[in-house]
Amino acid sequence: MKDIITLAIETSCDETSVAIVKNGREVLSNIISSQIEIHKKFGGVVPEVASRKHIENINIIIQQALDEADITFDDIDNISVTYGPGLVGALLVGVSTAKAIAFGKGIPLIGVNHIEGHICANFIEHKELTPPFICLVVSGGHTHLVLVKDYGEYEVIGKARDDAAGEAFDKVARALGLGYPGGPIIDKLAKVGNKNAVDFPRVYLDDGSFDFSFSGLKSAVLNYLNNSKQKGIEIVVEDVAASFQQSVIEVLVDKTIKAAKNKKVNIVALAGGVAANEGLRNLMSRRCAEEGLKLRYPSKKLCTDNAAMIGCAAYYDYLRGYRADLTLNAIPNLKL
Ligand code: KG4
Ligand code: ZN
Repeated sequence: MKDIITLAIETSCDETSVAIVKNGREVLSNIISSQIEIHKKFGGVVPEVASRKHIENINIIIQQALDEADITFDDIDNISVTYGPGLVGALLVGVSTAKAIAFGKGIPLIGVNHIEGHICANFIEHKELTPPFICLVVSGGHTHLVLVKDYGEYEVIGKARDDAAGEAFDKVARALGLGYPGGPIIDKLAKVGNKNAVDFPRVYLDDGSFDFSFSGLKSAVLNYLNNSKQKGIEIVVEDVAASFQQSVIEVLVDKTIKAAKNKKVNIVALAGGVAANEGLRNLMSRRCAEEGLKLRYPSKKLCTDNAAMIGCAAYYDYLRGYRADLTLNAIPNLKL
């Protein structure tokens, strides 16, 4: 069979990324231009600024991706792009660019769901991985427990009812004065802190539910910080970070293992920015080993936002015959 070369574009949040992917799982280039340094001073992503930066960068990043893969536009078989969920102005830059290329070159256009992209990041580095498996997608915007039944076939069995896991990391980090994004900093501090120092709540919701809720935990951390300040009790930032992280990951791990057993699958995968968390990876590895489950997760570069994962998801859509037309629009609250 002829090789299928996909040019993938990801601009849903604060990373402008373009990748060239061969046959879904072989990454020829994956350029990621992060805007973190720009948004850091505002303590979070400023949507308007993100859109403007994507516009400034996108053509340059496309050229870099082509150059690094040592190909030209004429070698591309299809264009794929994240069309949601995400920030509408940011998404529109990617969607408009992808439509222009697809129209100009007369090649197929494929719209990809960002959450599906995160799941597919696992296929890139684990060549043997095939559905079915349970995937825990944990990022700044989403916390989803998904049964991946087949390529492109998903059953969402649980999700965040309020703050996403990464959002909780970012908000707690901000309260601790640690800067943005908070996840990697809390992860680092948690390694030297005492995870049993503060007894923060583990929120499991009603019996048997696979949904998540992290806003109560976030409030508990904020209350603890305020009370400690009022009473003049010393706050050990490393201990707060470790105790908070432990509360998040215990719930994530427990529910994921339970979902795997409930759905009778023996493979668990992690995806999204929070899947880079070492505490989560370690606890999940230990529990999966105890339960006889296989665990897969992408390298850190493929956990956070990148276009290679979008190219991988698009390949399986392409094989199934899915094609978007030039009416493709950005859908900020797109569901999986
Ligand atoms: O997947 P991603 O790059 O963007 C979204 O789709 O949201 O995820 C970004 C999120 C941020 O909330 C960030 O704090 C979190 O992932 N994150 C981490 C770690 N690295 C990134 N959270 C916990 N531990 C980490 N090591
Ligand atoms: Zn993401």
